[in-house]
Amino acid sequence: MNEHILIKVTTEYPKEKTKPQRPFLVPLGKTNLHVSRIGTGTWQWGGAFYWGYGRTYTDKDLAGAYNASIENGINWFDTAEIYGRGKSEKLISWLTKKYSSDDNSSIKKPVVATKFFPYPWRWKRGTMRQAVKASLIRLNSEKIDLYQIHFPFPPRSYSVWVEEIADIAKDGLIGSVGVSNFSSEQTKRAYDILETRGVILASNQVGYSLLNRKVESDGLIQTCKEIGVSVISYGPLAEGLLTGKYRIENPPPLMRKLRWAGKRLKLLPPLLSLMSDIASAHGASQSQVALNWLIKKKTFPIPGAKSATQASDNADAMKWALSDDEMEALDLETEKYLHQ
Ligand SMILES: NC(=O)c1ccc[n+]([C@@H]2O[C@H](COP(=O)([O-])OP(=O)(O)OC[C@H]3O[C@@H](n4cnc5c(N)ncnc54)[C@H](OP(=O)(O)O)[C@@H]3O)[C@@H](O)[C@H]2O)c1
Repeated sequence: MNEHILIKVTTEYPKEKTKPQRPFLVPLGKTNLHVSRIGTGTWQWGGAFYWGYGRTYTDKDLAGAYNASIENGINWFDTAEIYGRGKSEKLISWLTKKYSSDDNSSIKKPVVATKFFPYPWRWKRGTMRQAVKASLIRLNSEKIDLYQIHFPFPPRSYSVWVEEIADIAKDGLIGSVGVSNFSSEQTKRAYDILETRGVILASNQVGYSLLNRKVESDGLIQTCKEIGVSVISYGPLAEGLLTGKYRIENPPPLMRKLRWAGKRLKLLPPLLSLMSDIASAHGASQSQVALNWLIKKKTFPIPGAKSATQASDNADAMKWALSDDEMEALDLETEKYLHQ
């Protein structure tokens, strides 16, 4: 086992919709790393330009999101060295220190997943090791629980990075290895390279939501299933569009307005209406419907949260399950997003 919050391991959903006293944890891929079905995404933690950090929400709100995540059964946070140029990693470390030293708090050390960005100037061997060390300093930790290659970007071939991550895992600086934005073929290749080195590929983190189902049609989900690699779903709320609070007449602020306004928002009302009906039947929120759908697809959604309210709402999606009929209705309504 590991030193993290690990009280009960189960592969079942909790049956009743009650607040769990303990997180329900499952292994990530074929590793020994145990995580809750939902993790909290932290691109927003320090992300000023895209998300408005420091303007529309502050560190106090993020402390609330951290606490609410853990108090409601989430035992892990997803971050990256590029989020807020290291600010996100630092905030997680600061909050962990702050709350784990409080005797009255049930909060212990959460699992942290971070990422390596293959910048074009990082072409020399050894640069990943330097990045790991820098992340460890920011995280105030001796080991990274899950280290992910953020993108399979050139100029270096992704397979060279996979070789390098295997070396670092062998040396014990990384607990588990993951990739992100890897295609079906790249995932299989990464898995094979790691396997020959005796290292398990735990996960592939990809964009996946009711509005982005390409991974179902391009074979990625199937490949991951066959080789036992977990799929971590990012953008599970389509950056807020699936929460139901944005409409064509009330688009999301800042950059998201430019990216999402128009076609997507115009097409959204029938789906939002279906989600709203399902949510009401379960006494849940629309966001929870979106997250529950991803859990039922056997993936691990990591909704980004800016506040305690958002984090606890998201965590509540682990406390109930969509019926098969509801899954079918949602699948049908979002069929068009299988190929877009
Ligand atoms: N590997 C990659 O390439 C990659 C790429 C993108 C993201 N990620 C990871 O995935 C995480 C999640 O993706 P994302 O943050 O882009 O998108 P997301 O989770 O789909 O959307 C997050 C946004 O939705 C709103 N929100 C969240 N919970 C809510 C709730 N319960 N009720 C109402 N609004 C709510 C918040 O924004 P507002 O309140 O402002 O609307 C929040 O910032 C990121 O934080 C990051 O860790 C990874």
